[in-house]
Amino acid sequence: MQTVLSGVQPSGSLHLGNLVGAIENYVKLQNEFKTYYMIADWHSLTSRFDSTDSIIPAIYEVAATFLAVGLDPEKSALFAQSQIKEHAELHLLLSMITPLSWVERVPTYKEKLQNSEADLGSYGFLGYPILQAADILIYKAHKVPVGEDQMFHLELTREIGRRFNFLYKKEVFPDPQAVLTQAHRVPGLDGRKMSKTYDNGIYLRDTPDQILHKCTRQMASDTARARRTDPGSPGACTAFTFHKLFSAGETVDEIAQECPKAGIGCFDCKKRLAEKLIERLEPLRTHIEDHLKNTSNLEAILKNGADSARAVAVSTMAEVRETMKTPQFF
Ligand code: TRP
Repeated sequence: MQTVLSGVQPSGSLHLGNLVGAIENYVKLQNEFKTYYMIADWHSLTSRFDSTDSIIPAIYEVAATFLAVGLDPEKSALFAQSQIKEHAELHLLLSMITPLSWVERVPTYKEKLQNSEADLGSYGFLGYPILQAADILIYKAHKVPVGEDQMFHLELTREIGRRFNFLYKKEVFPDPQAVLTQAHRVPGLDGRKMSKTYDNGIYLRDTPDQILHKCTRQMASDTARARRTDPGSPGACTAFTFHKLFSAGETVDEIAQECPKAGIGCFDCKKRLAEKLIERLEPLRTHIEDHLKNTSNLEAILKNGADSARAVAVSTMAEVRETMKTPQFF
């Protein structure tokens, strides 16, 4: 059976885009593959080393969300990166064989360094993609479900794995392939990509009132449609994009017909959308809240997940040390 691994940073407040772009797909894969889902808390530290209070609550939130969406702890290993020290050891060893120029040329690196408000001038942040390579290679993952923004990290992971195999003349690491999960990208309330940074999201823990408010009061629509009696253009409307993603086919057809004739107003159209989203998200929200009330259960699940992941990580590290001729006299 092939192995799948992915990682999510514990940065709090997962949104609808994370749900349909990633988490739902991750959970589906547990029926076909050996799946490892890692909460990348050390990766969060690369940019948030100065505000660590939120990290543990955010780990709980990611875990609660995966479980609420249907992750089965019997099928998938769910754990936090810092539970498995072997990731740190492999990160260290891989950093010895990774040319500085490879990490310096990561396109997101220089861009983030210049544009982010966080202080990213650390050694750790430069090593971010090497740590990610260690996460993937330590499970010899074949498939890595990620968004498009991670493609370069995956490419670098393959290069580092191949360089290891070449230098030490043994095929220890298979080539991991990205599995693109953002089949349908969810726009934010303002029409840009849904993102925490833009503060334009519908969050999985939003209450029905908040969802109704966001849909009817904050969501962008066709700006050329000033009055209720003006004909609208669904093609230029964020609310219509949402209907296409979340409403039934008949509703979409009806709005596509009525909106350009001014047969339906923006408020009613968005209210119908809010009802649909609430129907979909409210059961999930209550599940998430229930899980968050029971953090000792979450910890037990993470501990079990880490135990099964660690068994693999430990065995890969033994092979890595042997291949690299790093002593293991302990
Ligand atoms: N860098 C990834 C992100 O920000 C998170 C991540 C860390 C990851 N380790 C990983 C993703 C390993 C896939 C595999 O989304």
